[in-house]
Amino acid sequence: MNGLSERPEALREKIIGLGEKSIRKSYYPELQKRIRELEEAKDLVERKNAELESYLYVASHDLRSPLVNIQGFSARFGKQAEEIKALLALMAVEGENLRLREEALGILSEKVPRSLEFIRANSEKMDRLLNGLLRVSRTGRMVLTVRPLDMDALVASVVRGLSYEIEESGARVTVGTLPPCAGDEELLSQAFANLIGNALKYRSPDRPPEISVTGVRSLDRCSYTVRDNGIGIAERHLERVWDVFYRVAGSGVTGGEGLGLSIVKRIADKHRGSVSLESREGEGSAFTLTIPAEETAHE
Ligand SMILES: Nc1ncnc2c1ncn2[C@@H]1O[C@H](COP(=O)(O)OP(=O)(O)OP(=O)(O)O)[C@@H](O)[C@H]1O
Ligand SMILES: [Mg+2]
Repeated sequence: MNGLSERPEALREKIIGLGEKSIRKSYYPELQKRIRELEEAKDLVERKNAELESYLYVASHDLRSPLVNIQGFSARFGKQAEEIKALLALMAVEGENLRLREEALGILSEKVPRSLEFIRANSEKMDRLLNGLLRVSRTGRMVLTVRPLDMDALVASVVRGLSYEIEESGARVTVGTLPPCAGDEELLSQAFANLIGNALKYRSPDRPPEISVTGVRSLDRCSYTVRDNGIGIAERHLERVWDVFYRVAGSGVTGGEGLGLSIVKRIADKHRGSVSLESREGEGSAFTLTIPAEETAHE
């Protein structure tokens, strides 16, 4: 049978087949080269990330030891100042020396304790920051235990863990039916605790908090969104809230180190996923965490 007597559909298939074959022939090596380049670039990024995590770990770990010394010796210095005060008080002095002794006692009773209090408060703050950094680097260095997860159960347990804050704030938390995914239970619980915790923390003073958690599966990924009607985030801060220690000034909320979202981002990265944010200042925010639906995506 020659080509002309063939059915048009069969001919079309044949032509497409031939086209595909020649496309494959000419583009395949190029495509393979691009895939190799992309894989190499991904390896490099992963290696650099691991390097950064280990710097972070070493810096936060090693800085704690001099800090402990500063705390210990400033406490000791406080006691020594008290001892000098007691000795000065016992000294029999008169005339000009009496005035000098009073002046010295004044310094030891007021200025020295005030300076020591500054040292104490600041080293305590530094201790908190270093502990936070250690926490961040530990998350980045953790080896994932990936398994199929019932996300309804996982989020329900996170919400139960926050029941005190939910009751205190009068928040209404609704959780939709969530698609199951594959991930590390502990880390994903931590990510949801940070996101729902933030939704409660950055609530608006003008209305009771309404928080929802929803999820969808699309192809091989699952996306989970934590939405709130809180104070929202101005556009100029949207990129930076993922940075370590970044807090939006003037949010009116104190307490917190600016680490929660950088931990969430690390958890998403470790799952080969992503996290994104949409927000309007004064209206609310929506954080979406996207991770693979199946275990195989992690291999
Ligand atoms: N749901 C939200 N609504 C409004 N602002 C938010 C929300 N979540 C985070 N932010 C802003 O992003 C900043 C960074 O959040 P992140 O969770 O990293 O730190 P934090 O809550 O300040 O401290 P930590 O989580 O370490 O206790 C917050 O300080 C806040 O300004
Ligand atoms: Mg937080």
